[in-house]
Amino acid sequence: NWTMRDFIDLQIANIRQTVGDKKVLLGLSGGVDSSVVAVLLHKAIGNQLTAVFVDHGLLRKDEAQQVLDSLNGKFGINIVAVNASDRFLGALKGVSNPERKRKIIGKEFIDVFSEEARKLDGVEFLAQGTLYTDVIESGTDTAQTIKSHHNVGGLPEDLQFKLIEPLNKLFKDEVRELGEQLGMPHDLVWRQPFPGPGLAIRTLGEVTPEKLTLVRESDAILRAEFAKAGLDQTVWQYFTALPGIHSVGVMGDGRTYDEAIVIRAVTSVDGMTAEFAEVPWAVLGEVSTKIVNEVPGVNRVLYDITGKPPATIEYE
Ligand code: XMP
Repeated sequence: NWTMRDFIDLQIANIRQTVGDKKVLLGLSGGVDSSVVAVLLHKAIGNQLTAVFVDHGLLRKDEAQQVLDSLNGKFGINIVAVNASDRFLGALKGVSNPERKRKIIGKEFIDVFSEEARKLDGVEFLAQGTLYTDVIESGTDTAQTIKSHHNVGGLPEDLQFKLIEPLNKLFKDEVRELGEQLGMPHDLVWRQPFPGPGLAIRTLGEVTPEKLTLVRESDAILRAEFAKAGLDQTVWQYFTALPGIHSVGVMGDGRTYDEAIVIRAVTSVDGMTAEFAEVPWAVLGEVSTKIVNEVPGVNRVLYDITGKPPATIEYE
């Protein structure tokens, strides 16, 4: 694709010219966007880039290791990894309001990131994987914020960097095309979008380690079954959420009173609008059976058949 190759050449030239021999810092989330920025910047300026990967403990199963294996192991990108799970879970303790949860995660993220940034000398630039969609939905130029999207912006006074946002004119599908052109592994490029606040906004209400386990384990089952059925190629985003509904069930001779898990699977182009995906019943049935059998504490599985609008893709 000519256009994307031109875009890459132009961006690399731009980045080199802007950065010179200075250092660049990047917040790596594990998602497609910041990973693509990491590879693009590494291609342009090599080890002048340091990526800080904050593991907030709200990632999917095995995700942190996969990110490190591929971006550090395979691409040789310089990554500082911080395990901050306890800190995030501590800050989220007792909090159930969705916007407060998002704000707390955003604040902790900035605090942890800032602490790491202060340890590095001579950084002049901050790179971000901001997309065009983020620019619109964060509503910086309007009073109507749909959800407070959390990226690395808003750093403290003593940490003022010049911003590099090479994706801020691109939609998600274009970022993927860019990743492919950069020679990134297919799996990483076609990884479905994952929100900054992670599993916290799929664990409705207060986040606890126990609830996170239900979301993380059921999500891993869903992803494995979707991959087996080839649906990972066609469904834009799919995950499980814990709505916090307890209901009565039977297991063996006994009555249960356990949690329900919701499956969310949508088709979309850019996340701005979405339709619920028409997933074959057999696949949904298999996912449901596996979740109920393999995730203790779950006795019911539901499928979400709402589009965006009126619902959003995420639950909080
Ligand atoms: P909603 O829930 O607003 O999500 O329909 C639209 C798309 O954006 C993702 N999303 C986020 N991405 N930070 C992100 O980087 C966030 O705070 C955030 N919230 C939602 C969501 O997963 C979906 O793909």
